[in-house]
Amino acid sequence: MDPVRNPYAPGAGQRPPELAGRGRELDVFDIVLERIARGRPERSLMLTGLRGVGKTVLLNTLRSQAIGRLWGSGKIEARPDQSLRRPVAAALHMAVRELAPRHRAPDRIDAFLGVLKAFAQRSAPAGRGGTAPKLRDRWQPGIDVPAASGRADSGDIEIDLVELLSDAAAVASDVGTGIAVFIDEMQDLGPEDVSALCAACHELSQLGAPLIVVGAGLPHLPAVLSAAKSYSERLFRYQRIDRLDRIAADQALCAPAEREEVEYEQKALDLLYEKSGGYPYFVQAYGKATWDHAPRSPITAADVRVAAPEAEAELAVGFFGSRFERATPAEREYMRAMATLSLVEGESGAAYGTTWTPRCPPPRSPGPSAGSRPASHPPGTR
Ligand SMILES: Nc1ncnc2c1ncn2[C@@H]1O[C@H](COP(=O)(O)OP(=O)(O)OP(=O)(O)O)[C@@H](O)[C@H]1O
Ligand SMILES: [Mg+2]
Repeated sequence: MDPVRNPYAPGAGQRPPELAGRGRELDVFDIVLERIARGRPERSLMLTGLRGVGKTVLLNTLRSQAIGRLWGSGKIEARPDQSLRRPVAAALHMAVRELAPRHRAPDRIDAFLGVLKAFAQRSAPAGRGGTAPKLRDRWQPGIDVPAASGRADSGDIEIDLVELLSDAAAVASDVGTGIAVFIDEMQDLGPEDVSALCAACHELSQLGAPLIVVGAGLPHLPAVLSAAKSYSERLFRYQRIDRLDRIAADQALCAPAEREEVEYEQKALDLLYEKSGGYPYFVQAYGKATWDHAPRSPITAADVRVAAPEAEAELAVGFFGSRFERATPAEREYMRAMATLSLVEGESGAAYGTTWTPRCPPPRSPGPSAGSRPASHPPGTR
C-alpha cells in the first residue's frame, strides 16, 4: 500500500497515530490535576517501564493535558553526568513564561525570574565531585532581570531546589493554576539531584503547593529514588507502564488504518500480536512493515509473514543490537544463557514470568563472545 500514507510511527518518543491502552493513566492524571487545582493533597507521579513501552509518548501526552488546563509546564530529559540545575531552570522558565501573561503583578514574575537566574547561575562550589563545572552546566539564561540574591543561590542543590520550586508554585497559585515539571529518563539523574528532588517534592506536598513533578524512567527508578530518600516510596505514586493487551494492540493498528480506509483480517491481527507481544514499539514496527508490503486492503496474515523479516531486521539492529553492543561480557553471557533456556522451555519464556518471545535474528557482535542465538529477554532495561 502507499508508503506515503503509512500511518505507523516506530521510533523514540514518536507520537503514535493512536495512543492505545493508556486511558487509565490519562484519567488518573486528570484527577490529579483537578485535585491539586482545588488545593487537595496529591503525590507526584512516576511512570516506570521497560524500553519502548511508551513512557516518553505518555509523558508528552500528560504534558498536553496539563497545558490544556492552562497549567505552566516544562520538560527535562535527564542525562548521566549532567547536573539538574540548568535543565530544571530552563523548564521552570518555560512554565512561568506560560503563566506570566495571566499574572496581574508583573513585578512578582520579575522577582521570581531574578531568583531563577540566581539559581541557574549558581553552580556547585567546585562542580559535582570536586571538579570544575562543565561549560554546558554554566548556563546563562536569557532572562532580562538581574539575578536576585539570598534565595535559591546557596550552591547546595537541595536547599536551592526547595526554594526555587516553592517560589514557582507561589507564582502559579497567584494565577489560580499549577505547574507541572516532566522529567524523562529520570533514572539517569545523579544521586545528589535525586535526593534534592525528593526533598523538594516532600516540602511541596507538605505545603500543599500547586507544583507537581511527573517522572518517567526504567523499572529500577523506584530503587534509585528510595536509595536517595527512604520516604520516597510513599512520596510518589508509581504507575507501571506495560505492554498493550490484545484489545489495545489491535486498536493501535486498526484505528489509524481505518482512517485511511484500510482493514485487517482477523488472522493478520492474531499474527501481529503474536509477533509484537503487544510492545508498543514492536506494534509500530510490524505495523509499518506490514503496511508497506501489503498490496491491498484487507491486510492478510500472508502479508504479515512477508513483511515480518523486515521488521525483525530493524529491531535486531536498532533495538536489540544496540543494547547487546552496550552490554558487558557478563551481561551477554547472561542473555545467552536465558536464550538457551527459553529455547529448552519451548521458546515460551513462561519460565521467567513473561510470555514475550523474540523472533528476531541474533544481534551481530564484533566481540569474541558474540552469541549465535537471539537473546530471549524483554526489551532491555538499559
Ligand atoms: N500507547 C501506545 N499505542 C501505540 N503506540 C505506542 C504507544 N505508546 C508508544 N507507542 C509507540 O512506541 C514507540 C516507543 O515509544 P516511547 O519512545 O515513548 O517509549 P519509551 O518507553 O519512552 O522508550 P525508552 O525507554 O527507550 O525511551 C513509539 O514508536 C511510539 O509511537
Ligand atoms: Mg523514552
